[in-house]
Amino acid sequence: MQGFIQQVAAAELTDEAVRLFHGRGGRFPGCEHLCLDWFAPVWLLTSFMPLEAGELASCVAAIAQRWSQLGGDEAFNLVYQYRSGGQTHTQLLHGTVPEPHLVSENGMQFQVHLLRGQNHGLFLDMRNGRQWLKDNAKHKKVLNLFAYTCGFSVAALRGGADEVVNMDMSKGALAIGKQNHVLNGFHAGARFLGHDIFKSWGKLTKLGPYDIIVADPPSNQKGSFVATKDYVRLLRRLPELLSANGEVLLCLNAPELDSQFLRSQVAEVASQLSFIERLDNPAVFEDADPEKALKVLRYRLAAATGG
Ligand SMILES: C[S@@+](CC[C@H](N)C(=O)[O-])C[C@H]1O[C@@H](n2cnc3c(N)ncnc32)[C@H](O)[C@@H]1O
Repeated sequence: MQGFIQQVAAAELTDEAVRLFHGRGGRFPGCEHLCLDWFAPVWLLTSFMPLEAGELASCVAAIAQRWSQLGGDEAFNLVYQYRSGGQTHTQLLHGTVPEPHLVSENGMQFQVHLLRGQNHGLFLDMRNGRQWLKDNAKHKKVLNLFAYTCGFSVAALRGGADEVVNMDMSKGALAIGKQNHVLNGFHAGARFLGHDIFKSWGKLTKLGPYDIIVADPPSNQKGSFVATKDYVRLLRRLPELLSANGEVLLCLNAPELDSQFLRSQVAEVASQLSFIERLDNPAVFEDADPEKALKVLRYRLAAATGG
């Protein structure tokens, strides 16, 4: 617990949605089950196992103490979520959660839902991926695969992309994605396709080619995408969807699969793609073993050599 309490005591808050404590990264012994996020004006404490009453009380006291220093007269809002036996339990411990709950990142706004399930609408570890896209999307046509609530699409349009095609089989996530576009003043420029990617190659080909493709699949969603068997099927299709010198961001958030897993599959089935770099994760997500953390690998379609 010491690591958590010390980090919370030093936490700094702005309007930006951020992770404040990342016990999952294994750098704080005894705190591997704990994470703390700031989705202004709400703190979100997550535990990957049920907390004993005393441990929960210590966490809440540390957060309340820091809030008394930082929050002034503002209300103290705290949501606690824990995982147990494959289930997610969520409790509002203090205050309220705004509805709609709008948060900021890097000049963009997103809608989040802290009281609904374990995915809240914005993956904080992908912040640098969105930043990269924002910085590189000017006048580009972007394909956002596994788009979820379309954070990448908003970032691309904010960076001046000409057009974004979003695809995700969850129509509910895409509906929030559409609202995220409107929130940021984008009333045109994006398509939202609610389909299974593996059944949509014809449609994706017709709408292409793309200058940038983002592929950010789940690691293990039964029946939809299981990285160990499905990533290779996805990789095989990517080169033909890219324009000359097109780029791909390949994302993998599975602690048990390292970047070599992706790199060797690319070499095997999409050797036209050359590895450029792995994007850094935000510093707070630093992991004792970097290969367990989120991997975001950047590739470019090698220029065709004349015969
Ligand atoms: C990790 S989330 C994507 C996060 C998103 N890229 C972001 O930055 O917020 C994974 C998404 O993949 C979608 N998905 C899983 N399998 C799919 C499939 N076969 N076709 C289309 N979407 C799929 C899920 O509905 C979910 O929204």
